[in-house]
Amino acid sequence: MRMSANAMKIQTLIDRLERERTLSDAELEELFAILAQAHKGPGAGKVQICADIPQAVCSEEEAILYAAARRVREQYYGKDVYLRGLIEFTNYCRNDCRYCGIRRSNKKAERYRLTKDQILDCCRQGYNLGFRTFVLQGGEDLSYTDAAICDIVSSIRALYPDCAITLSIGEKSRESYKAYKDAGADRYLLRQETSSPAHYRYLHPEELTIENRKRCLSDLKELGYQVGCGIMVGSPGQTLANVIEDLRYMQDFGPHMIGVGPFIPHKDTPFKDEAPGTLTDTLHLLAVIRLMIPGVLLPATTALGTIHPVGRELGLLAGANVIMPNLSPVNVRGKYLLYDGKICTGDEAASCRHCMDLRIARAGYKTAMVRGDCAGFAVND
Ligand code: SAM
Ligand code: FES
Repeated sequence: MRMSANAMKIQTLIDRLERERTLSDAELEELFAILAQAHKGPGAGKVQICADIPQAVCSEEEAILYAAARRVREQYYGKDVYLRGLIEFTNYCRNDCRYCGIRRSNKKAERYRLTKDQILDCCRQGYNLGFRTFVLQGGEDLSYTDAAICDIVSSIRALYPDCAITLSIGEKSRESYKAYKDAGADRYLLRQETSSPAHYRYLHPEELTIENRKRCLSDLKELGYQVGCGIMVGSPGQTLANVIEDLRYMQDFGPHMIGVGPFIPHKDTPFKDEAPGTLTDTLHLLAVIRLMIPGVLLPATTALGTIHPVGRELGLLAGANVIMPNLSPVNVRGKYLLYDGKICTGDEAASCRHCMDLRIARAGYKTAMVRGDCAGFAVND
């Protein structure tokens, strides 16, 4: 079949992106514009990119991008998909991010905290299911002092020396980050959300600044963590120029992980009437990130699975290589509601694990129950 002019253009841009890891701003804009337009094109020219997933259909142009992203992810990670056991241990938060369902002003959120024993219980269940990374995520809840966090981390470290411990508990001082690291934490997730100061101001209240967020990320990296940053796709006010600025920031920063998922409105936040980010935009961005920052750990997020029944599988087919199933106790799952419609709030950890295996296999990949460190990152350095 002959290639269309747009497909030839995309092929040229993708070849260069794969080889040189960068394009000019104008070329990135053109790339995203052609992809968006091609996605809306007629059904006749569509390509099926995975025989076992009927919904895995895209334009010729998108198929070129996704194939390159998969080629690069396979150079670094083969067919392996790493699972992370996510423990959402508190939904109390002192912050008031305008997009977030557990922001402090949301008086309707039913708040909960897990005790150390409950957290350790989640880890035990997760370990028995084969998980070798635990992600402790929560709002910025100061009732967990640094000493309490260190106690939880060092207990997990002592019980499960072969596991990675990831924290995702927001902005802290360098001293706090150092204490958690010394207690045994390996990785830290903190999305920058947007690199543009004006857009950051639109998404967050006055007391949060992009400067401090970036300071946190730099401190974490200097302290030797594997660090994750990232953004929401389609967050209110986001422009393509913002996304390109984020790509530049991330490439310059050199994260080990990048969390990218669609923004989804929550009914009790100021952004309740905003449109969600789209599946298509998220998949395009995941694939471009894979080409620009090739060895990065890239999750197919729960938010992606929320906006489309096979969103996470499509994420894997666009270059993602990590999935983060929920290990939180079922009775609190429905309370960690960052956005409306969140999936997997009622399932037991064991059934989530089984479901993930099937989904990953259907996309042509295999679950690897290992720590799954970032390619090239020397652990215990
Ligand atoms: N407190 C920690 C922090 O701020 O990094 C971790 C918890 S925070 C809820 C984790 C991530 O959820 C944020 O970085 C944000 O990108 C994402 N998130 C929050 N609200 C969301 C929404 N409405 N739609 C999609 N993602 C959302
Ligand atoms: Fe703090 Fe969302 S506002 S976790």
